[in-house]
Amino acid sequence: MKVAIIGQGYVGLTISAFAGEFFEVIGFDNNQRIVDLLNTGVSHIEGVDSLRLKELIKAGRFYASSDGSKIADADVVVIAVPTPLTKDRQPDLTFIKAACKTISENIRKSVLVINESTSFPGTLRNYIKPAIEKNSKTPIEHMYAISPERVDPGRGDYNQKNTPRLYAGLTPEASAKTRDFYSRFCDVLVEVSSPEVAEAAKLFENTFRQVNIALVNEFAQIAHALGISVYETLDAANTKPYGFMKFTPSAGVGGHCIPVDPTYLAAVAEERGVPATFIRRANEVNLEMSKYIVDRVQADNGGSLQGKSVLVVGVAYKPNVADVRETAAELVIEHLRGRGAVVAWHDDVVGSWQGESSAPLSGADITVVITKHDVVDARVIMASAPYVFDTTGKIAGAKGL
Ligand SMILES: NC(=O)c1ccc[n+]([C@@H]2O[C@H](COP(=O)([O-])OP(=O)(O)OC[C@H]3O[C@@H](n4cnc5c(N)ncnc54)[C@H](O)[C@@H]3O)[C@@H](O)[C@H]2O)c1
Repeated sequence: MKVAIIGQGYVGLTISAFAGEFFEVIGFDNNQRIVDLLNTGVSHIEGVDSLRLKELIKAGRFYASSDGSKIADADVVVIAVPTPLTKDRQPDLTFIKAACKTISENIRKSVLVINESTSFPGTLRNYIKPAIEKNSKTPIEHMYAISPERVDPGRGDYNQKNTPRLYAGLTPEASAKTRDFYSRFCDVLVEVSSPEVAEAAKLFENTFRQVNIALVNEFAQIAHALGISVYETLDAANTKPYGFMKFTPSAGVGGHCIPVDPTYLAAVAEERGVPATFIRRANEVNLEMSKYIVDRVQADNGGSLQGKSVLVVGVAYKPNVADVRETAAELVIEHLRGRGAVVAWHDDVVGSWQGESSAPLSGADITVVITKHDVVDARVIMASAPYVFDTTGKIAGAKGL
């Protein structure tokens, strides 16, 4: 069986690596640089080992291409393209639309189309299916299903195999075929009654995280105002064996999912006349953390940051990955520069970002830690400046949330 996976990023390449064990996989991506890299056996994401990729290529089970005609004889097509927000923070289905065009222009037989990209309920039924059908030159009945991706890049304990996978087809046949496909490399498959339930469940999972992170970020500010440790208080609350789940404060939320997905849910809610006040506010609280942090740093440093050299440590949105999408570091740096600080950043996992390179971890007036990768030594961070503000709760002896 041939599987075409459209989009070879965090989600698509991860699926390629697992599916390649059982099927012949074509990794379609419209970024030629990524295609070339993958065909030399070099993985560009954490969680997919280059050695594994080389093995699959050697066994004839994987190759990447930017040529749409290569997916023509696929039996299963998986969509794994970005679903970001537009400039005015509305769901942006441009990439899904382009993926649908690639499918309709190139597929000549009936296939199973599975969407793994995160989007609002109704995307499969009301958007993907019509978009593929509209552009097809010949009328072909495809099968359609959704199986929202839950991968957490860089995570060791949960992966494609042991993370339960939700799925639902538009027809019972599509559901059955989707189950057959994933059951080769996923241990637990959970069928839900409609694609809309699967789509909504994925959005709600990430909204749950966004809201709880906002809550703990607000609580961190309350705890500081009360003169108590937020970390000790959370540990104390966490001794309750039921009805509590511990989240930890941070500079905000980042990545392609948590800051974005709740807005998809809010947009669809508001379209139906349901105010998504709580979801909208959670997003704002998390975005406002950057200002709160810079206010604290400024207050601790004589009330002015003018001319002070500030080193921001960790610009990736989370530890041990190079992903900088929607990173809270960006807003923190913006606030620091807005107050006249001379800002450099250190993150050798990211290397270069926004036309700047990772600076040495030393010699600053002030260090602000946003993300701490395992490879960065806390003692070196503490020696990098006379004042260190830590937003991660991992640096003993630093000031912090
Ligand atoms: N990154 C995560 O941790 C994660 C987890 C769960 C779900 N998701 C969801 O999965 C989807 C993909 O996210 P990602 O993180 O893999 O994105 P990504 O940016 O890492 O990868 C997307 C890839 O798609 C390619 N692409 C874009 N348009 C294309 C097109 N028309 N044809 C072919 N290739 C195209 C890009 O070049 C890129 O390589 C999103 O909906 C996201 O919300 C992501």
